[in-house]
Amino acid sequence: MISDYQHFCQTHVDGALEQLLRAPSSELERLYAAMRYSVMNGGKRVRPLLVFASCQALGGEIEQAYGAACAVELIHAYSLVHDDLPAMDDDDLRRGQPTTHKAFDEAYAILAGDALQSLAFYALADEQLSPVSCQQRLDMLKVLATAAGACGMVGGQAIDLSSVGKNISQDTLELMHRHKTGALIQASVRLGAIASNHASEQKLAALERYAQAIGLAFQVQDDILDVTSDTQTLGKQQGSDIQHNKPTYPALLGLEAAQDYANSLRDQAHEALADFDQHANYLRKLADYIVSRSN
Ligand code: IPE
Ligand code: IPE
Ligand code: MG
Ligand code: MG
Ligand code: MG
Repeated sequence: MISDYQHFCQTHVDGALEQLLRAPSSELERLYAAMRYSVMNGGKRVRPLLVFASCQALGGEIEQAYGAACAVELIHAYSLVHDDLPAMDDDDLRRGQPTTHKAFDEAYAILAGDALQSLAFYALADEQLSPVSCQQRLDMLKVLATAAGACGMVGGQAIDLSSVGKNISQDTLELMHRHKTGALIQASVRLGAIASNHASEQKLAALERYAQAIGLAFQVQDDILDVTSDTQTLGKQQGSDIQHNKPTYPALLGLEAAQDYANSLRDQAHEALADFDQHANYLRKLADYIVSRSN
């Protein structure tokens, strides 16, 4: 069921992304080629799926959330392009292909990332992609700006880089994961809720608990897969974390305890949705998928 939903949402979000990534002039073709290369290359699209599923859980239509779905994927794609740079994780393979700085060059990878970030905010603000009220669009911009920046993803990446080779506590590791990965996942759920325009305070609070749990679970599972999967399945270099001396959940707790932790976070996500009806079933399926995926 999740793969049908994934396919349905991918078609919608990929169509909108294709439109956004058309070069307006031949002089910009190489930059746009680097941007398209970084986005239209087979990502799982988990964050757009969360936007749509959260909007639908509250009774909204996915058409209200196209801008938000594109925006979270654009921020995510930019974060991966920069994450793979030699100055950061120095990885050569992403989604089964050479990383953007390998396929183009470092300068174009930096620029493509920068431009994808700006394009994300454009998608959110655009009235065609986000056919909701001005207030909703303003609220969505604030949520994404907070989650993408120093208090969210970028802050998490900074903690990650400064923790390399160090023995950090579980609290610091959790803080790092909640920032570098959890923040954008939480924002995806929040953006879907804002786009729906149907959220009560109580439902929003429950969605926050759900999003916090799966946001952390997503990175715990990413750490686990670095140990247990293989390069071909992952589409990125297996063992990269170990090679680069990254602090991870399996490194700190051991593999089995890391897996137990991911499963307990999945259970917390389900509990948070206890008062939701069957419209939240995709959110429930996504929680299961996040800790059972193989790439
Ligand atoms: C990988 O994210 C990077 C993390 C934040 C852990 P995904 O596993 O969602 O990567 P894609 O988009 O499917 O390639
Ligand atoms: C990436 O975390 C988090 C981002 C903000 C991009 P990782 O460095 O673990 O992601 P992968 O394993 O390279 O996809
Ligand atoms: Mg990294
Ligand atoms: Mg990395
Ligand atoms: Mg990783």
